[in-house]
Formats: sequence, structure tokens, C-alpha cells
Amino acid sequence: MIVGVIGSGGREHAICELLNRSKKIKKLYCFPGNAGTAKIAINVEIDTNDFEGFKDYVLMNKIGLVIVGPEKPLVDGLVDYLEKFKIKVFGPNKLASKLEGSKIFTKRICEKYNIPSAKFGVFENINEANNFLKKSNHPIVIKADNLASGKGVYICENLNESYNAVKEIFDGKFGIANNVLIEEFLKGEEMSFFVISDGISIKNFDTAQDHKRVLEGDKGKNTGGMGAYSPSRLIEKQLEKKILSKIIKPTLKALKDLGTEYKGFLYAGLMIIDNEPYLIEYNVRMGDPECQTILPKLKTDICEIFLACCNKKLKETEIKWSDKKSLCVVLCSKGYPENYRKKVEIENLSKIELNYEDYLFHAGTFEKEGKIFSIGGRVLNFVSLSNEFINARENVNKYLNKLNWTGGFYRKDIGYKVIDK
Ligand code: AMP
Ligand code: GLY
Repeated sequence: MIVGVIGSGGREHAICELLNRSKKIKKLYCFPGNAGTAKIAINVEIDTNDFEGFKDYVLMNKIGLVIVGPEKPLVDGLVDYLEKFKIKVFGPNKLASKLEGSKIFTKRICEKYNIPSAKFGVFENINEANNFLKKSNHPIVIKADNLASGKGVYICENLNESYNAVKEIFDGKFGIANNVLIEEFLKGEEMSFFVISDGISIKNFDTAQDHKRVLEGDKGKNTGGMGAYSPSRLIEKQLEKKILSKIIKPTLKALKDLGTEYKGFLYAGLMIIDNEPYLIEYNVRMGDPECQTILPKLKTDICEIFLACCNKKLKETEIKWSDKKSLCVVLCSKGYPENYRKKVEIENLSKIELNYEDYLFHAGTFEKEGKIFSIGGRVLNFVSLSNEFINARENVNKYLNKLNWTGGFYRKDIGYKVIDK
């Protein structure tokens, strides 16, 4: 069949790579893709905000299945639109995507369905918010309600930082703000937990631990993710049971009560405190770089899984995993996550020869006249599967040393909690 993937990051290159292995695939498109996807798919520059134009392209090119990588088209309702034209799309609809698109929507669900999460308040103006903050302990967490590309969350250590966060949010830094969310600060260890659902049943889709801060030792600014390992060191049967029964299932019940259902990947960002899971946030897609870290362990044909979800047959599909450990390191352009350099050539890429079960996924790259250049902040992802995390990290580091890209930097300590104990 002919399949199209929306997105241009490492996540989408990993999805394309797995799709490319499938016997079911005749032709693969990526919208718009990167220099990595260009090797296995047809990259197409098309504006997916233009639903009609995109739909016309899909129909004209007989694309039988569309996979939506990033959150924005989901939150904007692309799935609902395409389904009106009987196009198969893997990803949640607009209402279900509010789980990521509105933090307050999710908090209200947590409240109503007793889903463990941080205590919170919603405030409609600066004065109300500041009066509450004056009486509160710090650190405290302040969030913009809407999609903010991973930004829009402030961990405030003192009242001044809090006032500044509230002001920035109401000043419209993350779009028009009618309110602000203030949350209790949860202290524990974070974990990303993924499930896949067809609207009727759910299956686990492994776990991973991202490293969000830009500097080694989890210091510095927040980023989209500097590297990850899978599985999470925290996951065990009892905890998994609690996550499903206390968090995932009540959420799906809430959506059902709202008259909808969930189809796609659901990513629960959790804080684990004394072996108890608390929901920090939902994302309605795979994580990046968690996706690049998890997918190489998948043994089942990914196209069959996506199709089973669209056809409500997930229950009958067995999802098999390698029990190897996976570790991913993200190579970024110098300056990221602030202003970073663009259009810098990555000279030594052709020297990289990957061993069995090692992967190189492109993110912010493009090709021109046979040369590869950086364009995004996160540029390349090296992933290795091994019996031990330490070996996986050594493998990845070997490639990064060999590449020796002077335009970039990366964290050498990814996985330190499971390696340098
Ligand atoms: P989010 O974009 O909601 O994932 O938040 C970004 C990061 O902020 C999370 O990965 C956490 O590290 C942190 N965070 C968000 N909410 C809380 C909270 N209530 N308590 C502690 N940390 C939080
Ligand atoms: N790695 C975090 C995210 O994809 O949101």
C-alpha cells in the first residue's frame, strides 16, 4: 500500500524506517521529511495546515494510510477532516487531542475521574493569580493552557519568578491567554509511558526516559529532548498496573463519556513518587526522541499495527518487542535551545558505517548537491540496541566521535541513572 507520514523530525524518520521494512509498503511519502527520510520516502513540501490541499494530494496519489507524527495537525483537527473523506489516518481526533492541546481540559478530567496528578488552580487574570501565589509555597509550577511546543511551563523558585511567568503568559507569549494554570510542584522521578489504542482496546507501547535539560547532569534550559533510554528503570509489573488502572483507563473512560474515543499513540508524562504514578501531562503522539529510542526494539510490522488501529482490530494484533536495551543521543546545533546556527554542513556523515542494530535518524537536516546540512536545533539521533545500556552508549559515542561535527554538541551522560550508578 501507499503510506504518508506527516512530520520532519527524528520521530518521523524512525517511523518511516520501520514502515520501509514492512512488506505491505509499496510507496512511502513524508510531508515534508528531512535528508534521512529522503533516502527511503518521497519528501513532499506541502502545507498540512491547508487541510483541503493536503486531502487532494492524498487522494490524487492514492495514499491509503496517513500517519500524523507531530501534535499540531492533531490538535487542529486534521484527522476529523481526512476521515470525512474516508481516508485512513493514524492519530486521535480533535476532541481527544485536547488532552495535549489544553492542559486545563486534562486537569479537569483528572479532577472528575480521580486521576492522581498535582493539585492545581485555574486563574483568569493576573491579580487573581498573584494573590494566590503570595500565599503559596515555592517551588511552584505555572503553565500556559495551550500548545506551546514544549515551552509554556515554568518551574518557579520564588515569588518574582512566579510573577514574571504569569505576566509573560497573560502578555500572550504562548498565544492568547484567557487563564493560567498553577500547579503544586511534584518531586519524584519522571517517566514516559506509551500506549497505543484503536478506540476499543489498548496495548502498551513500551517506556522510555527522556533527558530534557540541555546540559549534563540535567542542568540548564529545557529542550525538546537531548537523548533517551528504553525501558525506563522504574517500570515493573505493579507500577504498570497502577498506571493503567489509575491513569490511562479513567482517561479513556472520560473521553468515552464525552462521546469520543482515542485512536493513536498516547504518551503519558508521569512523575513517580514512592512507586505511585502521578500524571504531569499527556501528549497525543509519540515522544521525540523516545520514538527513535523505542521503535528499533519493535519486532512486529509497524504497518500492521497502524492498520489494526484504524480498523479497530488492535486486540487481535500481537505487539512483539526485542528485550534489548536501547539508548539514543541527540546531536544538536551549537546554541540550541536558544538561537542556534543553521545551514552548517555535516561533513563526515558518509564515513559513518552503522553496525547491526544501530541506527542514525535525521531530524533537522536537508540535502543540497549531495551534501547534508543542518537546519533545525536537533539535528541527528544515534541509537544503539545492546544487552547493556553501557554498551549501547559506547556504540553511540563511537559514531559521534567519528562524525566529529564541529557545528554541534551533545550530552555525553545520557542514561547516567542506569549506567553511572
Ligand atoms: P510539560 O511540558 O507539561 O511536560 O512540562 C515540562 C516539564 O516540567 C516536565 O517534564 C516536568 O519536568 C516539569 N513539570 C511539569 N509539571 C510539573 C509539576 N507539577 N511538578 C514538577 N515538575 C513538573
Ligand atoms: N521528548 C518529549 C516530547 O516529545 O514531548
